[in-house]
Amino acid sequence: MSVGKEQQAEKSIEALLEEQRLFEPFEEFRRNANVSDESIYEEASEDREGFWAKQAERLDWFEKWDKVLDWSNPPFAKWFVGGKLNVSYNCVDRHVKTWRRNKAAIIWEGEPGDERVLTYKDLHREVNKFANVLKGLGIKKGDRVTVYMPMIPELVIALLACTRIGAPHSVVFGGYSADSIRQRVEDAESNLVITADGGYRRGNLLPLKNNVDKALEGNTLVEKVIVYQRGENPEKVHMEPGRDLWWHELMEDAEVYCEPEPMDSEDMLFLLYTSGTTGKPKGVVHTTGGYLTSVTSTAHMIFDLKEEDVYWCTADIGWITGHSYMVYGPLSNGASVVMYEGGPDYPEKDRFWEIIEKYGVTIFYTAPTAIRAFMRWGTEWTEKHDLSSLRLLGTVGEPINPEAWMWYHKYIGNERCPIVDTWWQTETGSILISPLPGVVSTKPGSITRAFPGIEADVLDEHGNSVEPGQGGFLVIKSPWPSMLRTVYNDDQRFIDTYWSNYENTYFTEDTARKDEDGYIWILGRTDDVINVSGHRIGTMEVESAFVDHPKVAEAAVIGRSHDIKGQCIVAFITVKEGVEATPELNDELRQHVATKIGPIARPEKVYFSSDLPKTRSGKIMRRLLGDIAEGRVVGDTTTLADPSVIEQLVKQQQSG
Ligand code: WTA
Repeated sequence: MSVGKEQQAEKSIEALLEEQRLFEPFEEFRRNANVSDESIYEEASEDREGFWAKQAERLDWFEKWDKVLDWSNPPFAKWFVGGKLNVSYNCVDRHVKTWRRNKAAIIWEGEPGDERVLTYKDLHREVNKFANVLKGLGIKKGDRVTVYMPMIPELVIALLACTRIGAPHSVVFGGYSADSIRQRVEDAESNLVITADGGYRRGNLLPLKNNVDKALEGNTLVEKVIVYQRGENPEKVHMEPGRDLWWHELMEDAEVYCEPEPMDSEDMLFLLYTSGTTGKPKGVVHTTGGYLTSVTSTAHMIFDLKEEDVYWCTADIGWITGHSYMVYGPLSNGASVVMYEGGPDYPEKDRFWEIIEKYGVTIFYTAPTAIRAFMRWGTEWTEKHDLSSLRLLGTVGEPINPEAWMWYHKYIGNERCPIVDTWWQTETGSILISPLPGVVSTKPGSITRAFPGIEADVLDEHGNSVEPGQGGFLVIKSPWPSMLRTVYNDDQRFIDTYWSNYENTYFTEDTARKDEDGYIWILGRTDDVINVSGHRIGTMEVESAFVDHPKVAEAAVIGRSHDIKGQCIVAFITVKEGVEATPELNDELRQHVATKIGPIARPEKVYFSSDLPKTRSGKIMRRLLGDIAEGRVVGDTTTLADPSVIEQLVKQQQSG
């Protein structure tokens, strides 16, 4: 970790550790909670495999496993070895066989205000039909299907249909650009892409299909593109003859039943790309039995899901949170899930509160960045609505500052809803650290303690557990069912990134501190990943996008703290000989990055500089760039090849 980050983390953690407030579980909540007895922790740690086997029994298996865990070849774990199951069967068919047949599975609201409710029976029919469509196009078990869709029920249908026939999906977030899609489609070697003509965001239809068309220019592997019609002008949508097919036309004649493919526990369920230190996003591989076991049990225990709950996770399905806690976890539990297509401030800043009131949402799961935006917008928006249906709140994606936690507690939870601050990663598949709401007392800003069956610790660089109050590296010391199995087509990167710091111990790439009560507080990341509004963006990805511009010679990108987003992207750029560093070019470069990667990667600030601060051996000193961006006193510059570079940058920073 760079010294700059350390200093920054140091400051914020000091403030956090002064945080003395403790909230015990509410008595009434505890009485009715799915887990109300603390003994679950001890039982699980005494017999971890037994605990997970019990959790796996929540699922319907076509064939039971022979062995719970095979860890004979670390870090390559196998869970529920020999077991056979199907994810769509568990998320849909088994509910259709009970009274849940007519229960709402998906309660959907489009941004323009259109509404749809799909019961489990409806979902079953659509998933089966679409699975038959996929089969009809020649998609078979093992084929990777890329999905680039807005937040509409068809996205869930597409994913479940893939799982029904055993074709792993690779979802690309709808906010990503053509280049990002191209990279992911190529890496996954997909021959089918599922998309839509658009999706609504702040009143506009996002040009999803155009992005797919651009992404597929020159691609020879993709044979078919299925297009769902969300917009109103299908005649304006370019449909490539022989390649592009309308979803509704394919569905017209599809058979209504498709036999679910019995999948091996360890068959790949999906791929999801995420940013890391090096330029290319990694395809995180999740498998079937372990993943579904973990998301089902964590959703049941952490969100305390009950039959009558109306559950809403605001994450986009393009991220892991959407996969695990909008689709698979809740549906496997037979929950009613609210799904919303658009922005939180459209048409007005009370859209979320309106949705909660309208559908009687009981469980609400969102991100700190959203909470900080709500705080800024003020309580005039929350007061307009009756939020009394809520009984549990969750947060995920980045550290929540105690102030935002208290605001959430007071104004959304009306001081009577437990808050679960859930820590996990794309790689972990499911929540690993979070309070159980009926058991664990919470502290604003702390993710508290590991889920039963998870062995988390904070280690120093020698691999020793740190003393209370000390910081170190957050690790997971034993395997868990939903852990990533590898990086797609790159076992070495899997080993190097996660398993080479400590022996047989998963390195999370996060730093954390433990307090006197053993509670865990996340400080930040150790790698070159910036967490913008809870979304991981690699500095290298942004730097590559900059230097791809013909006028840029060199780029260095860092994360700076931001009141709402948590962190934002700041870039230091040197332009090529003869190029003038104008404000217009500044705007153009920021736009260039947004076009190359997606709007979430648009840099907040670009500094031009005649050179970057480098050591005499040519290494860019990011620590100093961090100091400049944060407006801090700039640290030691004696090792710089040319210290005047810093003066120039400080002047720019001070002049805004
Ligand atoms: C951060 C999102 C603090 C962390 C599910 C992690 C958090 C990265 C929390 C993973 C939390 C996630 N408190 N930090 N509750 N949850 N993070 O892969 O740095 O998009 O490593 O998964 O987000 O981000 P990812």
